[in-house]
Amino acid sequence: MAKQRHPAFTCQECGAVYNRWKGKCEACGGWNTIVEETGSASPMAGPAATRPSRAKGRIFPLEGLQGETKEAPRTPSGIAELDRVTGGGFVHGSIILLGGDPGIGKSTLLMQASAALAMRGERVAYISGEEAVAQVRLRAERLGLGQAPVELASETNVEDIIATLSQGRPPALAIIDSIQTMWTETVESAPGTVTQVRGSAQALIRFAKTTGTAVILVGHVTKDGQIAGPRVVEHMVDAVVSFEGDTGHHFRIMRAVKNRFGPTDEIGVFEMSDQGLREVPNPSELFLAGRDMATAGTAVFAGMEGTRPLLVEIQALVAPSSLGTPRRAVVGWDQSRLSMVLAVLEAHGGLKLGMHDVYLNVAGGLRITEPAADLAAAAALVSSLSGNPLPPDTVYFGEMGLSGAIRPVAQEQARLKEAAKLGFSSAVSPQPRLDKAKGSKSERLPLATSAIGHITDLVAGIAARRRKAS
Ligand code: TYD
Ligand code: MG
Repeated sequence: MAKQRHPAFTCQECGAVYNRWKGKCEACGGWNTIVEETGSASPMAGPAATRPSRAKGRIFPLEGLQGETKEAPRTPSGIAELDRVTGGGFVHGSIILLGGDPGIGKSTLLMQASAALAMRGERVAYISGEEAVAQVRLRAERLGLGQAPVELASETNVEDIIATLSQGRPPALAIIDSIQTMWTETVESAPGTVTQVRGSAQALIRFAKTTGTAVILVGHVTKDGQIAGPRVVEHMVDAVVSFEGDTGHHFRIMRAVKNRFGPTDEIGVFEMSDQGLREVPNPSELFLAGRDMATAGTAVFAGMEGTRPLLVEIQALVAPSSLGTPRRAVVGWDQSRLSMVLAVLEAHGGLKLGMHDVYLNVAGGLRITEPAADLAAAAALVSSLSGNPLPPDTVYFGEMGLSGAIRPVAQEQARLKEAAKLGFSSAVSPQPRLDKAKGSKSERLPLATSAIGHITDLVAGIAARRRKAS
């Protein structure tokens, strides 16, 4: 195999290749992320690069859409929250990239999953490129999993790993912790560089596809761009799962960002304890724990994460600003969504927020992406500005348009049911759709709803509470 020897400059963030050094990557805009990498310079160095050239192609049979297909065979992990995210377990021969900040609990979770599978008689290999075997063993012991027959190794060479795992019965699951520490002999650049990460991942993907072993690649996501972002392998793997949460909180949320074999909108919720990650089957209770009901500026949002309803508290603080340009900060929600809600509240709700700092926070470290949170955010903001606490037994949901109209959202019943289950007695929600309203007399809502059609109704409703209180 003739190796290309000319230098290539690869962006360590996004994998873009240049033929000379640049200070700024034109593809992703990152500064000082371009590093010289010699060796396999082609960005797609893989099987194609190693294959001898042939004048004529081999003819392969083409198949039709009809034909025999079976549901992809899966191995459930035994951890319900994890299986919910993957869509029912690890598909044989599939590759999952598990990404997350360092220290979030990836190794802990994967050790728990490995042990659970191994206890059921499956062959499971846990390859750590970061920790020594003794360290991994110690953690397993601390988790009470010391007896599980997981095969452990501390190894970073991909060829050696594949050769070892190929002996005997192929493992049902192999964990590679982490892909950034792996290196393959087919690529000459240093471990951790984009080319190495990509080359190692490619070799492991080939291993998974040929043996039917489900492989999980751990990828640290670093913000400073020092280590090659595992981003570059996202398109090659079957599923990308992110493990989030901030280290200041105990909750960890697992989310599928991409999934070729299942849904991408389900979340798994875990709690980090001294015995590892504990599943949280009813996350709403957790996210609402420790709620301060008497203060102004908090609203409970009845949200949906996939098929699962999830109640969370949205907190707002609106305070007079001492700055020329008031501050707007948001944690757990979209900054531009907040700007929009503020603009609508000013334009159509009659609120004056131009001289106020605005802070919005989603309690518990959760990230909300649903537009249905608009109404709850608006309620929290109005409540904070006016100093009127919202009724503690009420949930809010609804999408807000730029005109101030409150639009219906999906899965109203599921949201209301969850709220009723957790002891809430009323909901402020959008007016039901017309077609539904006609025949919906029989459709019993699980709790009292006050349907509002416009943001002015919300503002008036909160102002009326003050008059009643005083
Ligand atoms: P780890 O799984 O090593 O994180 P990652 O692999 O994502 O880098 O988790 C490390 C953190 O988890 C560490 O700060 C300690 C904490 N932890 C617990 O709180 N309880 C436990 O039982 C374990 C094993 C770890
Ligand atoms: Mg780790």
